[in-house]
Amino acid sequence: MKRISVVLLSVVAVVAGLFAAEIKLPTETARLAESPLPGFALASTYCYTCHSVDYVRTQPVSSRAYWKSSVVKMQKTFGAPIPDAAVDALVDYLVKTYGNERDGSLPAAPASVAPVKK
Ligand code: HEC
Repeated sequence: MKRISVVLLSVVAVVAGLFAAEIKLPTETARLAESPLPGFALASTYCYTCHSVDYVRTQPVSSRAYWKSSVVKMQKTFGAPIPDAAVDALVDYLVKTYGNERDGSLPAAPASVAPVKK
């Protein structure tokens, strides 16, 4: 009986394999803006695993409080394995690169983000 099940399962697996659709995802090209801030390395470690960093690049220019709540949401709600000790440095990089604390000393934000009006 056990042997028959194994044979049947193998047949099912082979047949399923024959009909499996091939899914090709486009190559991910979005990259975080480079920065000397320590949070850049952290973001490169923690922000590429679940979704495109286009999610980061296309946010409206926002405050430190917004970026903090965003990082904490990734961590607590979505289960990103971000250590608590990394949160402040991540937020610092994000708000100074994509948020309303950008200044001219950091690389220009991507074209998809409107410049900050001061
Ligand atoms: C454990 C998986 C995971 C990791 C790691 C992760 N995120 Fe997310 N992120 C999500 C999910 C899930 C969403 C919601 C997706 C949706 O609504 O389509 C999201 C959405 C976002 C958004 C869109 C706005 C929002 O709040 O929904 C931003 C911005 C964002 N993430 C930033 C980050 C940053 C910055 C990092 C690195 C610190 C990060 N994410 C790491 C899971 C993750």
